[in-house]
Amino acid sequence: MLTEKTLLPTRPEHVPLAVFAHRLTAACAVAAEVAGLIRARQRQGRTAVLGLATGSTPVRFYAELVRLHREERLSFANVITFNLDEYRGLTAGHPRSYGRFMRRHLFDPVDLPEAQIHLLDGAIPDAAVDAHCREYEEKIRAAGGIDFQILGIGRNGHIGFNEPGSARASRTRLVALDPLTRRDAAGDFGGEEYTPRCAITMGIGTILEARRIVLMAWGRDKAGPVRAAVEGEVTIQAPASFLQDHDRVQFVLDHDAAGALTRHHPAWRSGARENHDSAPARRMIRRGAAPGAEIHRA
Ligand code: F6R
Repeated sequence: MLTEKTLLPTRPEHVPLAVFAHRLTAACAVAAEVAGLIRARQRQGRTAVLGLATGSTPVRFYAELVRLHREERLSFANVITFNLDEYRGLTAGHPRSYGRFMRRHLFDPVDLPEAQIHLLDGAIPDAAVDAHCREYEEKIRAAGGIDFQILGIGRNGHIGFNEPGSARASRTRLVALDPLTRRDAAGDFGGEEYTPRCAITMGIGTILEARRIVLMAWGRDKAGPVRAAVEGEVTIQAPASFLQDHDRVQFVLDHDAAGALTRHHPAWRSGARENHDSAPARRMIRRGAAPGAEIHRA
């Protein structure tokens, strides 16, 4: 039987993709899948453990989860969350902290119990950082591991704050931020000189242990790093390329973020049409809310 894996060597793409005309539809499709997991676990009397990202990319995804809570009675009572990362030096109450972001976009508007929220503490004293990181990993293990990990991608290909040079086996730890990452964040902090230099992040090894991973990317700025991650070699220079090693990963893209992929090259398009209706695409559409999905992984 032909599986996703057996098809891969003949394709330029090394991970399953879903490409949507509109990022809003894409974000809703991902939210529908997460909601399906939460509800399935509720029926079984089990928890759903989510790994969560911040930044501009997942904002619509969280908005859809909040809508599902308000309008379609999606409860988060059985959800446990672990955030990916936090800027070093920022207290949980800092207006630019990822903790504040999460409270605003998801935690406050839904019924997620406080005790089930896990955030990295950016303001922890230096001497306690290593122990804090180890405890975070232990808490993930104690929760049974991450069922569903949400990711964005940086312009340098980072996932979480695993910047280029991060090892595949890396765990939760203190890292120095790449100059490009700091430049991209400078607007939020009122200038590069006020932008944190370090962060605490889950490692690539930590992320790869999640049972399902969805990386979302929108816009032309992400086309280069998406192509490197999807079609390039697995390399520490492109941390998202490590996702090629995961069995249940999917990249969910809008047209612009998919714009540099070989499938958009005229020579490839003419020969690849029969592959557009792929199994991962059909699964995603079946899970609901994906009418805008139009081209899928070869
Ligand atoms: C944030 C995170 C980062 C972002 C990435 C993209 O928790 O882990 O890897 O996902 O920097 O950021 P945006 O979405 O703002 O383009």
